Amino acid sequence: MDWSQIRALFPAAERYTYLNTAAAPPLSLLAAREGKRYYDEMAEHGDVRWESWLCQAEQIREKLASFINADARGVAFTYSTSHGMNLIAGILDHCGDVLCPADEFPSCTLPWLQQRYRVDFVCSRDRGVIDLDDIQKSITANIRVLVISFVQFATGFRQDLVALGRLCRERNLIFVVDATQGIGVFSIDVVNSGIDFLVFSGYKWAQAGYGVGGLYLAPRFLSPTSFPGAGWWSARDPEAVVNDRLDLKQTAAALEVGCPHFAGIFALGGALTLFEEIGKLRIEERIHELTDYLHHRLEAERFNIASPLKREQRSGITIVEIHNAPDIVKCLAEKNIIVSARGKGLRVSVHIFNNFDDIDRLIVGLRELTSMSRGDNV
Ligand SMILES: Cc1ncc(COP(=O)(O)O)c(C=O)c1O
Repeated sequence: MDWSQIRALFPAAERYTYLNTAAAPPLSLLAAREGKRYYDEMAEHGDVRWESWLCQAEQIREKLASFINADARGVAFTYSTSHGMNLIAGILDHCGDVLCPADEFPSCTLPWLQQRYRVDFVCSRDRGVIDLDDIQKSITANIRVLVISFVQFATGFRQDLVALGRLCRERNLIFVVDATQGIGVFSIDVVNSGIDFLVFSGYKWAQAGYGVGGLYLAPRFLSPTSFPGAGWWSARDPEAVVNDRLDLKQTAAALEVGCPHFAGIFALGGALTLFEEIGKLRIEERIHELTDYLHHRLEAERFNIASPLKREQRSGITIVEIHNAPDIVKCLAEKNIIVSARGKGLRVSVHIFNNFDDIDRLIVGLRELTSMSRGDNV
């Protein structure tokens, strides 16, 4: 499949100049059809397909596990990052204090605060870079958990997970990663990076829509009796409907306390199939190529980029420094150009359905809207 064939799988990419994956991208037809298939089958056949849906969900668990180089026994489906993060905070049961970047998205911090953990914050540097030395210096005797996003939502800074994992091992910290803004476009290897817990929401770079997410637990945390909750579906044999004693699944699936959200899981399966067909390295290279072009065009028009410029720190997110970003977002939307206002200005994100023409249209739109306020800047 070439990039124009891939783009054709995303009808929204023809209707809009869609540069807003960091908020939520359109689904591919593959992912949408998979989700819809569940509702169609439910409408046509009721629950007759239940067993088959369960089998399919397990195949998607395997697919997700292999996508992040995990063992499927350590993978659970969730509804959101916040859901997964609350589970992790519950599993860790006040083992110590938490360290987090100051710019983190609230899904990474509020679950810990609500569960009465102490949370310390590390400030970022210029362009949102979170320096390893700064993290190291912030590790006090009581810190036991490092919670960090793979890619920061308001700057686009991408962590070096291998380096962070090494630091966590050296300092005996539990390493918790929110991959929501990176999974799907940048490779994640939970084993190689020494990740203890990984969470993500499906509705951003994973292109699976709202209501589905994933949670990975390293083998040393796979102890279902210490999980923070259980339901009939957590039982080793749910259909036995035993209600007077605990006999739990010995896998992360014990965290799925009730019936599965099949539509979301199937959509995630469809999205992962597309990523696999294209190839991880090819996707990563494409995101870099589009971002190179975006940066080049922005710089030529003298816009300031507030995101990292080095490839190894970059992601699919670029923040353009701009005054009145919310107004600019509205005006661009009137031209069918979809971006958002975040961090120091405009958040522009590129995914596999974008092309160079999208970026050209954004630049023309931005030029028209900002030439007055920038005094034409030339
Ligand atoms: C880094 C990050 N994590 C998670 C989320 C979404 O959280 P949730 O899945 O809890 O809605 C966002 C949304 O912007 C985000 O930027």
